[in-house]
Amino acid sequence: MDVHVRLDGQRDLSGQIYRQLRTAIHDGLLRPGEPLPPTRELSRRLAVARNTVGVAYERLVAEGYADSRVGSGTYVRTTGLPASGTATDADTSVSGLRPRALWADLSPWAAPELTGPTTATHDFRVGLPDARLFPYDAWRPLIARELRHSAAGAVGYGDPAGHAGLRAALVRHMGLSRGVRTGPEDVLVTNGTQQALDLIGRVLLEPGDRVAVERPGYPPARLPFLAQGAQVTGVPVDAEGLVVDAIPPGTRAVYVTPAHQFPLGMPMSLRRRTALLRWARRNGAAVIEDDYDSEFRYGGRPVETLRSLDRDGHVIYVGSFSKVMLPSLRIGFMVAPPTLRAALRTAKYSADWHTAVPTQAALARFVDDGLLARHIRRMQHTYETRHHTITRALTDHFADLTELVPSAAGLHVTTFTRGRLGDPDALAAAAERARASGVAVYTLAEVAAKRATRPGLVFGYGSIGASDIEPGLHRVLASAS
Ligand SMILES: Cc1ncc(COP(=O)(O)O)c(C=O)c1O
Repeated sequence: MDVHVRLDGQRDLSGQIYRQLRTAIHDGLLRPGEPLPPTRELSRRLAVARNTVGVAYERLVAEGYADSRVGSGTYVRTTGLPASGTATDADTSVSGLRPRALWADLSPWAAPELTGPTTATHDFRVGLPDARLFPYDAWRPLIARELRHSAAGAVGYGDPAGHAGLRAALVRHMGLSRGVRTGPEDVLVTNGTQQALDLIGRVLLEPGDRVAVERPGYPPARLPFLAQGAQVTGVPVDAEGLVVDAIPPGTRAVYVTPAHQFPLGMPMSLRRRTALLRWARRNGAAVIEDDYDSEFRYGGRPVETLRSLDRDGHVIYVGSFSKVMLPSLRIGFMVAPPTLRAALRTAKYSADWHTAVPTQAALARFVDDGLLARHIRRMQHTYETRHHTITRALTDHFADLTELVPSAAGLHVTTFTRGRLGDPDALAAAAERARASGVAVYTLAEVAAKRATRPGLVFGYGSIGASDIEPGLHRVLASAS
């Protein structure tokens, strides 16, 4: 990349060039061994005599910052650079610019640590699929093909609502896998669930509006609403899901995970779903249905989605490719009532114009060619074995310490803890010990916000092989029994 040099007035032009290049070398912007721009080129760019640049370069060479190679140019010294003085001539911390007060209380989800690889030998982190089993060989040519299109000049900006082929493919995929009937015009492609929630909040909420979320629940879902100045209230869940009667009066929107409650794991009963929709209708409120991992099901009859049960446009359905493909792709979507369509499209445009087109187009092909369905079928089998292994091991060997929450979908199970691990401090210490011994495992309080729940552990099985599950559980629980 060209180094940026800014000249002020007409005085000491060589000195100005010299000082800025020296700072760039000290700051590591120009790295050892890297060529400085040819004098002819830099002098043209700066509209100065070539000799002016030459003098600056000679000074850098004389002071040990650069070496001149005959016939080749001037290069940053590879060894023995002079010690740095002040790295920059600006102090950007003094302006007093501050974020709005509400940002002081907001931060990303801290636990489980989901960024990058883990050093753990037994990985029970929640929220991750098995990236080792993703069909890279099938995906690579699809991405390459889209980049070839770009190289041929066939691609400009995309539609904020999403790639037309992908939206059509999603309509078929949702119809088949989730029984959600909709048209492409109702689908908006997003950078994951997280962006969908952010966009929904932007178009729906006035500052001070109340949003209800599940308690315990998915902490990242609270963040966009809080950042938009909404009041976020946790509403308890019981064995049937969100307790609809406990939603506070005046609530404008409710966020739920009905297929596989996060983090507990049980589905929302049909009775509760119906009650929630009735509540939404009575209150003119929105229901945000986060259907993040229900493609993976292990028995039991699937309950209809809220979106399929909705007769009058109160539900916004949100889906994600983070579990069925990879979270790092950052791709998801929502199906919204027509009344919100135009505003959501504009909100998406305002946020980032659109989701990356090559990824969307490749995904459209991936769905259309049946590759997604095949990948899901394979992974379903793999995850079902892990789900079975983990639930069997917990009930067969650790029933004295754990009380498994029944669940038949997704990539994690949750167990309340009892006996010696019924004490929150003892449980936190056991989780800490397990992590120190190479088992990535988190308590319910860590995953789903403190004080929001009974003591428990959340076991993700997206990235742990079936044969590692039982030894991993022993490391976490055996020392406590
Ligand atoms: C409840 C819930 N919703 C959504 C997601 C996926 O979010 P995204 O699509 O932003 O990756 C997760 C991932 O862990 C989740 O647990």
